[in-house]
Amino acid sequence: MPSLEKRVALVTGAGGGIGAAICHRLSKEGAFVVAADLNFDNASKVAEQVRQVGAGCLPIQLDVTDQLQWRSAVAETLRVAGGLDILVNNAGVAHIKPLEAVSVDEWNADINVNLNGAFLGIKESLNAMRERAERSPSGASIINIASVSALVGSPGMPAYSASKGGLRLFSKAVALDFAKRRYGIRVNSVYPGLIDTSLTTPLFESMRGANSSKDIEAIRAEMIEKYPIGRIGRPEEVAGVVCFLAGEDSSYMIGAELVVDGGLTA
Ligand SMILES: NC(=O)c1ccc[n+]([C@@H]2O[C@H](COP(=O)([O-])OP(=O)(O)OC[C@H]3O[C@@H](n4cnc5c(N)ncnc54)[C@H](O)[C@@H]3O)[C@@H](O)[C@H]2O)c1
Repeated sequence: MPSLEKRVALVTGAGGGIGAAICHRLSKEGAFVVAADLNFDNASKVAEQVRQVGAGCLPIQLDVTDQLQWRSAVAETLRVAGGLDILVNNAGVAHIKPLEAVSVDEWNADINVNLNGAFLGIKESLNAMRERAERSPSGASIINIASVSALVGSPGMPAYSASKGGLRLFSKAVALDFAKRRYGIRVNSVYPGLIDTSLTTPLFESMRGANSSKDIEAIRAEMIEKYPIGRIGRPEEVAGVVCFLAGEDSSYMIGAELVVDGGLTA
């Protein structure tokens, strides 16, 4: 039997590289997936692809920074799927600029999406997830997608690093609260290194900086040099770890941080 059969998962940022891979993987394991993204067209495309190979998938438009939209998204999930067992806070943005160049709006955007988005998601999903967890021996699972920028300093990314560093300890704090209150909801977080998605292009461009004659491929190669494994990660390699945290095999894991970075921070 697939490991997540009869489970319902909501994935944010589902229209992006890692989010889409997470939707595919959870669905392959039997979960009904709600694919939520600010960009409804991209969420719809992912949902259509997921439905062709896995269990049911519902696309929804959701801005994770908007509490009322979260409320509607959870209500819609309950209406269509009857419950919520797995929440993956994956939506993210990155303003890759040194401190002097970051505007207040850009700073706020990283904090709002990457940190406040997860706070609002957990706040608005909590009652539904508790209700489901009380009736299921498997409980419920929340997975927050952070970054290696939450573990070590990332030059040129102060706003992103602050948001992901905040997400790391926010995850641990609520993980402990929920465990001690016996909510049956486990909270854990994931720390990807460089993964091949649209988010990496601005990173390479910012590394090129003033030296605009430098080839992006050369910058990519320089970046890969830093990774002991010798390559950039694939979205599926993050999705596999998320799937593990979503299911029974990680039942004794609370507030854990799983690093998926090809050895970068080892
Ligand atoms: N790609 C990497 O190298 C890497 C490394 C470490 C961590 N991460 C993290 O993984 C997560 C996914 O990133 P990705 O690489 O797939 O990027 P991506 O740009 O491909 O996808 C991000 C998705 O988030 C959505 N999004 C942005 N703002 C939103 C909002 N307000 N509400 C709802 N959705 C919103 C976008 O529409 C997009 O579909 C992010 O949290 C990112 O910080 C990525």
